[in-house]
Amino acid sequence: MALNVLGVSGSMREGSTSLRALSIALDAARAQKGAETRLLDLRELDLPMYRPQSPIINEGILEAKKAVEWADAFVLATPDYHGSMSGALKNFLDYHWTDFAGKLFGYLCSSHEKGLTAMDQMRTAVRQCYAWSLPYGVAVHGDEDFDADGNITNDAAGKRLRMLGRDITVYGAVLREQFARDIASDALDTFAARYRK
Ligand SMILES: Cc1cc2nc3c(=O)[nH]c(=O)nc-3n(C[C@H](O)[C@H](O)[C@H](O)COP(=O)(O)O)c2cc1C
Repeated sequence: MALNVLGVSGSMREGSTSLRALSIALDAARAQKGAETRLLDLRELDLPMYRPQSPIINEGILEAKKAVEWADAFVLATPDYHGSMSGALKNFLDYHWTDFAGKLFGYLCSSHEKGLTAMDQMRTAVRQCYAWSLPYGVAVHGDEDFDADGNITNDAAGKRLRMLGRDITVYGAVLREQFARDIASDALDTFAARYRK
């Protein structure tokens, strides 16, 4: 069964660099045998602010829900906003805090620095949802790593993005298999036990 990898783009900017970087990672994921990819562009989806008590249901919410349920693994892409992930990406995560357990996440950030604190925040949010994270993230610099047409010019950054696409697929498959095995067993001493239906 193909591993389903969902890329989530958290930039509201037309011509977003983090979206360009995400496309490179998703292409590399798709190049792996047995991976399918989809892109959720939050700029197009325009999710309303999450309200736990009076949920608004619109097409964007339903589309995001379908994509999240489809996904086995995720690549989250954000611009660095004040050392944080974008509000749009955080809002997306707020909708799905019960949907990520046992799945694998990878991170990339478009930043003028290294994007480390923004990626740490995504990692923390994902950990709170009982999901796994790749042990590294990839930062790109919009002005230095891409040409005027949006093509990547920094070979090292391109290589790291392709590594991210490869790793999310390969490690995502390992985790999906083990999680399914733990759910199917009757063992109580695994974190998957609480997700049995
Ligand atoms: C509100 C706001 C806050 C920002 N804060 C930072 C920051 O703290 N550090 C940084 O390196 N860049 C910061 N930037 C610059 C963006 O991270 C940078 O332009 C990024 O490449 C945009 O990514 P995108 O093209 O995917 O939207 C900020 C930009 C905006 C609009």
